[in-house]
Amino acid sequence: MSRVLEVSGLDGGYGSVQILNGISLHVDKGEFVTIIGPNGCGKSTFIKVIFGIATHYRGTVKHRGESIAGWRTDQLVQRGIAYVPQVDNVFPGLNVRENLEMGGVRLPPSLLEERITRALEMFPDLQPRLHDTAASLSGGQRQMLAISRALISNPTFLLLDEPTAALSPLYQEQIIERIDSLREKGITILIVEQNARLSLARSDRGYILANGEVVHTAPASEILDDPHINEYFLGTLHD
Ligand SMILES: Nc1ncnc2c1ncn2[C@@H]1O[C@H](COP(=O)(O)OP(=O)(O)O)[C@@H](O)[C@H]1O
Ligand SMILES: [Mg+2]
Repeated sequence: MSRVLEVSGLDGGYGSVQILNGISLHVDKGEFVTIIGPNGCGKSTFIKVIFGIATHYRGTVKHRGESIAGWRTDQLVQRGIAYVPQVDNVFPGLNVRENLEMGGVRLPPSLLEERITRALEMFPDLQPRLHDTAASLSGGQRQMLAISRALISNPTFLLLDEPTAALSPLYQEQIIERIDSLREKGITILIVEQNARLSLARSDRGYILANGEVVHTAPASEILDDPHINEYFLGTLHD
């Protein structure tokens, strides 16, 4: 099993504000891994440190065996890593097609066209909306656009920050299902989620974060079946 991401003893934060304390986790090739934890525990910060947007203080961050700590975002994208932020993940004033083009501004036009076609095959709901502004899309469609845009760089490792937040249950299911089909196409998936039941149901493994630390890790099915975790981290079973 080859290791796509290996993080060990990671401290990180924003400038001098330390948020993450000694995080260790890994993601193997082809895995779907979910990080859960309460609001403010550092989930987004973790992904941002990996993607070179928040500050890495110390600790190992390896992608396919090579240290990527402190790398610039464009270098990470070159390596095959893509990131879908939690908020502000589309350009609302641009139309759907223009948003997709923004995902590949440096690609030769024919390759860009090919990638856009492939992204639209994954998210066909966007096809009839190509000339509508992103602002006019529903929340679910906007999320699909954000993920599609990330796909334009042809990633092998996709980081997603709360892709189902604030969506209707139907869209939540659809989004997680599509993400799972990306994994079936060979893209390794790391998601952070506050409402994590749907994501865990598709995951191989999960990590629980609290106060910037990993407090638990287990196969996703064990996390879902653990009554204690259910009570504290997943809400009631029948919400
Ligand atoms: N740009 C920032 N500068 C300083 N602190 C921040 C910044 N963004 C988030 N934080 C703080 O970092 C902590 C973790 O936030 P975050 O990683 O967004 O949590 P989560 O995604 O788990 O809800 C919070 O206390 C938050 O206030
Ligand atoms: Mg967050």
